[in-house]
Amino acid sequence: EQGSTVSITVVGASGDLAKKKIFPALFALFYEGCLPQHFTIFGYARSKMSDAELRAMISATLTCRIDKRENCSEKINQFLKRCFYQSGQYNSEDNFSELDKKLKDHEGGKVANRMFYLSVPPNVFIDVARCASRSASSSKGWTRVIVEKPFGRDSESSGELTSGLKEFLTEEQIYRIDHYLGKELVENLSILRFSNLVFEPLWSRQYIRNVQLIFSEDFGTEGRGGYFDNYGIIRDIMQNHLLQILALFAMEPPVSLDAEDIRNEKVKVLRSMRKLQLEDVVVGQYKSHIKGGVHYPGYTDDKTVPNNSLTPTFAAAALFVDNARWDGVPFLMKAGKALHNKLAEIRVQFRHVPGNLYKRSFGMDLDQATNELVIRVQPDEAVYLKINNKVPGLGMRLDRSNLNLLYSDRYSREIPDAYERLLLDAIEGERRLFIRSDELDAAWAIFTPLLKELEERKISPELYPYGSRGPVGAHYLAAKYNVRWGDMS
Ligand code: BG6
Repeated sequence: EQGSTVSITVVGASGDLAKKKIFPALFALFYEGCLPQHFTIFGYARSKMSDAELRAMISATLTCRIDKRENCSEKINQFLKRCFYQSGQYNSEDNFSELDKKLKDHEGGKVANRMFYLSVPPNVFIDVARCASRSASSSKGWTRVIVEKPFGRDSESSGELTSGLKEFLTEEQIYRIDHYLGKELVENLSILRFSNLVFEPLWSRQYIRNVQLIFSEDFGTEGRGGYFDNYGIIRDIMQNHLLQILALFAMEPPVSLDAEDIRNEKVKVLRSMRKLQLEDVVVGQYKSHIKGGVHYPGYTDDKTVPNNSLTPTFAAAALFVDNARWDGVPFLMKAGKALHNKLAEIRVQFRHVPGNLYKRSFGMDLDQATNELVIRVQPDEAVYLKINNKVPGLGMRLDRSNLNLLYSDRYSREIPDAYERLLLDAIEGERRLFIRSDELDAAWAIFTPLLKELEERKISPELYPYGSRGPVGAHYLAAKYNVRWGDMS
């Protein structure tokens, strides 16, 4: 709008997330012409820095899909001119009023919309929310605050955080990011399902025998051990990223694409889920390994991790949605660090064709060769469907083949970073991809009893070598439900 301005204040501007994700995403949005005409970016952090130093920091760390292009230095300069810095404590209303004054100068009396990205540790979320909401209460536009996990460690601490934030902000002002929801292929999940007749009618227990949500990284927690040891892989990946995908996957058709309609359906799925049981979980932790003469450190070799830490860096779990659509269908999750590959995917294994004519023939175990739909979130984004096909020739031999939609072959457009989509949505007030507080409560309710039990009973994780395929226990867990991990076959 002509008469309004948007300011985006990145609180915790010198941190890793800000440098690696937030500033680059803001620049990409600027480059693409998606930011409003009148916008200003402020970095806020404790260290003293000048505007010039902030700009130097941003340009030195700007690595996004755009800045690889030639001729973008002009755009970078234009962008940097809109970036400013204010130093201050996270709990100081005085420092935030100094920021407020500077913001007002930039806003020039226009309707002032203010967004605060809290790229700071969760123990200062509430302080920042208090200071930011006071300073912004004088502006006539909207105020929105983006927060990112960890949202507590369990139901109780998450509840405290939510009520703390709500002392200063309304639910509508709080944007809880789960960056997996901003990923292109996760966004595509609903389109694939709801707009294709070959999928939509099959989306239930009647035709789907299991769903697998797989996350693996080929690097450890190096440098993040301090954060990670307090959370572990279940809180870091499963309770949020994988569970959010599950909720989107399993929800009933929403009344419309409106944010509230979608989130209403997601929360229903989460509330229909069984609390995770210890016997349905396998936990692991990576140990050091020497490969090709290179020594890969174990999790507890990290100086910031206690030697006797039991924190899982790998987990596999079987979850269940106890409703009419999904009764009895296992949703298997697997997430791990320091594994042999980097991958995030959704796998849908379909049931057998009843009375399959080809069941006993032609050199294939049709029991395993059921159709499988794979949505590869990253890397090499793709959607493919495993089908059974006749090998050409006079004989009669069956073969498993893929109907393959590989994004890099099909589309020449680049895939935007998740943070670009999410920041743009937050600026536009689109809440569809952000987590509502009742969703968060329901998500914690599924995992909290298990997390407590793991800690109270001091369950030892199964050790696996750095760079391996993870604990063998994950296979036994899947086998218990007559499932084979699709990424292993
Ligand atoms: C973060 C986790 O939420 O997601 C990290 O805290 C993890 O541990 C990261 O590495 C993975 O995100 P992406 O987008 O790189 O797959």
